[in-house]
Amino acid sequence: MKEKVIKSEKKSVLNSEELIKIAHQLRCPTGNEGIAIGALLKETNNKMIEESISALQLKERNRILELGHGSCNHLESLLKRAEDLKYFGMEISEVMKEEAEKINEASINNRQALFQTYNGCNIPYVCSFFDKILTVNTIYFIESPVKFLNEMYRVLKPGGVFVLTFADGGFMKQLPFVVNNDVFKLYDKLKIKELIAQTDFTLLKIKEETERVKSKSGEWVDRDYLIVTLSKVFKNSQLN
Ligand SMILES: C[S@@+](CC[C@H](N)C(=O)[O-])C[C@H]1O[C@@H](n2cnc3c(N)ncnc32)[C@H](O)[C@@H]1O
Repeated sequence: MKEKVIKSEKKSVLNSEELIKIAHQLRCPTGNEGIAIGALLKETNNKMIEESISALQLKERNRILELGHGSCNHLESLLKRAEDLKYFGMEISEVMKEEAEKINEASINNRQALFQTYNGCNIPYVCSFFDKILTVNTIYFIESPVKFLNEMYRVLKPGGVFVLTFADGGFMKQLPFVVNNDVFKLYDKLKIKELIAQTDFTLLKIKEETERVKSKSGEWVDRDYLIVTLSKVFKNSQLN
């Protein structure tokens, strides 16, 4: 990926305590500040999320799992992509689950969507349950990424697709709320390939994108991000 210079229009006016608070809120939103973070993410991450949904190539009756959906303002758009979709949202943040439930009440009542909290690694569903899996801007916070990917592999159907989207480490490390704390684990193209190589997933595609957004601490920045598409290929043992 070619080097990008971050163009700041405004320097951060936040002190180190406030910056670390933002980092923790991004990892697991809580209370009213968490609700505010959820609303902010809706503005800044919409394009990243919509493009990730496109990469899923949703088909009629697909069962979709999303990890770390935040306030999930994108559900309506996702459900329009094909007929009879079923969406399962999983969060570690109780506040984000509640926000998502408020925003998407109609889809829950139609039995098209279900939101749950979980322990951040073990998906409470049987093997091969989902056709598609999506996660955007969460990989930075995953404690045991190989274990996490293996768990996604377990619950994905053979032939299923897992889309994993994140902002590039080279970009992330210049953000004031990312440096000087260990809340974020950063990835770039090479690091994500190394991670995937430790799992049974097959790497289908890495799409690299850039967009200009306002960061969580107020600066305008050119954000490089990667949309990684993985698949669980059929194996002979899975055909019966
Ligand atoms: C930075 S926010 C991103 C939200 C949304 N995906 C977006 O891109 O705007 C990270 C979200 O992931 C959730 N999260 C963090 N670790 C998680 C995990 N292990 N499993 C599922 N969700 C997680 C947080 O609670 C938070 O809502």
